[in-house]
Amino acid sequence: MIILGIESSCDETAAAVVQDGRRLLSNVVNSQVDIHAEYGGVVPEVAARSHIEVINPVIRQALREAGVTWDDIDAIAVANAPGLVGSLLVGVLAARMLAELHDKPLYPVHHVEGHIYANFITEQSDSLGSSRSPDVSSGPSSGTQPETQSRHEVRPDGTIGRAGDALKLPSRQPTFPMLALAVSGLHSQLVLFEGHGDYRLLGETLDDAVGEAFDKVARMLGLPYPGGPAIAAIATQGDPLRYALPKAKLKSPYDFSFSGLKTAVLRSIQREVGVDHTFASHKLPGLLNDVQRADFAASFQHTAVKTLVDATVKAVHEHSPASVVIAGGAAANQELRRQLSEKLPFPVEYAPMSLCTDNAAMIAALGYFRAQTLDPTPVDSVSVHPSLSMAQTVWNV
Ligand code: KG4
Ligand code: ZN
Repeated sequence: MIILGIESSCDETAAAVVQDGRRLLSNVVNSQVDIHAEYGGVVPEVAARSHIEVINPVIRQALREAGVTWDDIDAIAVANAPGLVGSLLVGVLAARMLAELHDKPLYPVHHVEGHIYANFITEQSDSLGSSRSPDVSSGPSSGTQPETQSRHEVRPDGTIGRAGDALKLPSRQPTFPMLALAVSGLHSQLVLFEGHGDYRLLGETLDDAVGEAFDKVARMLGLPYPGGPAIAAIATQGDPLRYALPKAKLKSPYDFSFSGLKTAVLRSIQREVGVDHTFASHKLPGLLNDVQRADFAASFQHTAVKTLVDATVKAVHEHSPASVVIAGGAAANQELRRQLSEKLPFPVEYAPMSLCTDNAAMIAALGYFRAQTLDPTPVDSVSVHPSLSMAQTVWNV
């Protein structure tokens, strides 16, 4: 079964073609990172407008790189929750229109669940990534050609670059029960899956998501958006134990809180540069030297990652899952991968970086597994749900 996935929930416009929930035929991601970096974060109106400009060329390119036509596509899956309402609408309306036009079943899916299903992609077509000419000849309104080749991948050193041709994929699909640590710019959750779509939330963040904390601390340090890769990159030169930062103590061992950690970093920076808490925070980066900046990045990353890893390890001991997966943008973090490998009682295989950050291959993979158990949703009733929790989307009941 060949599924076209469409993803536009935040600042990446993506389309991908995946066969049987495991074989990647194409994976096109048009990132708006450069646009939003100017503003220091995602601007919702700018994001929606940019999705509109590139969505059609991105979808066309995904079909072309996969070497398929509409006749080969068995179904469409689209992320319809959660995310920015204007951004979600663009992908959902495109998916609805294409499903209607080509008479294809449509499966709306949850974005965070999708991140977790990126781990089910274990094969790729030989020709993947070999296409070099973007299929954007009929650019939309502006007449300019959108850059649909800006697929990005977070490199091991945390910087962002072009995705390589071949991905290093896990050797086999995860088995159940499966423990998933989903960590993105909006979510930090530990989820226990008993089977496809059969899961329960063990815990989640009570305030900021971990990716959001990386983004906010990056700002304090004068680092660019997105903060995760920027912090990870300079943390490699810093001392993770230079600044003692507290780990939040919560009632549930599986819940997280990153807001206190973020404030602790702020107070520690203020102390280090000799100003009080009334000092304008946007002027702080200018008072830090490179060594202090790297040490703050490393110390923050160390504590944030330890928080996630401690909860994951505890859940492994309590629930004895057959597999552990990590998912979401922050799952690209090398320190997270390192600490997990060190502390888990068995080896873990990680999804490649470019399938951790937002993409549509994960949406197509999830769409396949939903299609095995669920009827498609009537096209007219597929709407967007900007703040739908994963706890409300258990589907294999
Ligand atoms: O999943 P994602 O691409 O988009 C959302 O669904 O939110 O996650 C983006 C988040 C951002 O907050 C970004 O700073 C964080 O993931 N991120 C990282 C890394 N790469 C991206 N956080 C920590 N370390 C990284 N290497
Ligand atoms: Zn995401």
